[in-house]
Amino acid sequence: METTITILGIESSCDDTAAAVVQSDRAILSSVIVGQEDLHADFGGVVPEIAARAHAERLDICAEQALEQAGLTLADIDAIAVTAGPGLIGGVMSGVMFAKGLAVGSGKPIIGVNHLAGHALTPRLTDGLAFPYLMLLVSGGHCQFLAVESADTFHRLGGTIDDAPGEAFDKTARILGLGYPGGPLVEVEAKTGDPKRFKFPRPLLDRAGCDMSFSGLKTALRRASDAIVAEKSGLTNQDRADLCAGFQAAVADVLAEKSRRAMVEFTARFGTTTIAVAGGVAANDTIRSSLEQAAQSLNFGFLAPPLKLCTDNAAMIAWAGIERFRAGSFDDLSLAARPRWPLDSTAKPMLGSGKKGAKA
Ligand code: KG4
Ligand code: ZN
Repeated sequence: METTITILGIESSCDDTAAAVVQSDRAILSSVIVGQEDLHADFGGVVPEIAARAHAERLDICAEQALEQAGLTLADIDAIAVTAGPGLIGGVMSGVMFAKGLAVGSGKPIIGVNHLAGHALTPRLTDGLAFPYLMLLVSGGHCQFLAVESADTFHRLGGTIDDAPGEAFDKTARILGLGYPGGPLVEVEAKTGDPKRFKFPRPLLDRAGCDMSFSGLKTALRRASDAIVAEKSGLTNQDRADLCAGFQAAVADVLAEKSRRAMVEFTARFGTTTIAVAGGVAANDTIRSSLEQAAQSLNFGFLAPPLKLCTDNAAMIAWAGIERFRAGSFDDLSLAARPRWPLDSTAKPMLGSGKKGAKA
């Protein structure tokens, strides 16, 4: 039997500063997340410099709290796992420098984790899911289908060629003056809206494969909103709700149809039938249920980790560190922060650049 490995995970690649202690028996001893929404709300999106400074100020407090809540000290930890990319480079650097300091001070090994691998391996932490499985990562910075074959073998089956859906939700909220982060606010508006009033496009559905595009959808929404404002010199509450419902339905349709294609391709190549989702957009009820229906229609199992492990957190980074620890794969103090770090280096590069910087 394997001796229990205990890892301290650190995450700071976007707008959440997080630290967690996780063990190889899948026990999450602590998971501390300090958000920065208040700091970025006035700007309607994450401001990289503000984010980096806030991470630098908060990382030590988060790590201290994570250890304290776990009832452990650094001496009890087997290694420190830290997000080394992809993400906003200032934030990633804050985390990597902090983790190096801890590693030097404690003499513990350091493991640089790919943030996307953290998301993609989460179903193994939450449910012990066996390889291979299909993963849809759908958040403010990422949108891709991954065949997860092992802890370090990922095949990208497709992804967005421009905006990530969460980014499109955030921009929609900004256009409609709803606030930030936009996803949950758009979802609330959509509940009282008519999804059929506006005919928004379903981009790339006519193209084979599972690549997606969401930036045209946001432009279509802006045009529809501008047209109403020009005609009636303002939006009513119902207009806003209908615009949100139409937009959300279009995103849900695209994600569901592309997921169906990804499932067909995945099962033909890898033979298993489970799709897991992660990322903030998976919190959306309409989107989640259309993905679930798509899975059911193809006899796929559907797995969505609890929301606090779907969105950015450090428990997933600690877990990815455990998988690397088991493989005996460590880094040293030359570990570098990487703004771009595709999980599948053989896939063609993604286009576009979003709030997390260049898409991985
Ligand atoms: O995974 P996450 O916390 O951070 C990363 O982007 O990595 O995802 C945040 C994104 C934001 O763009 C937010 O607007 C979106 O997820 N989001 C939602 C919902 N909740 C969060 N989008 C649609 N519906 C929601 N309920
Ligand atoms: Zn993320």
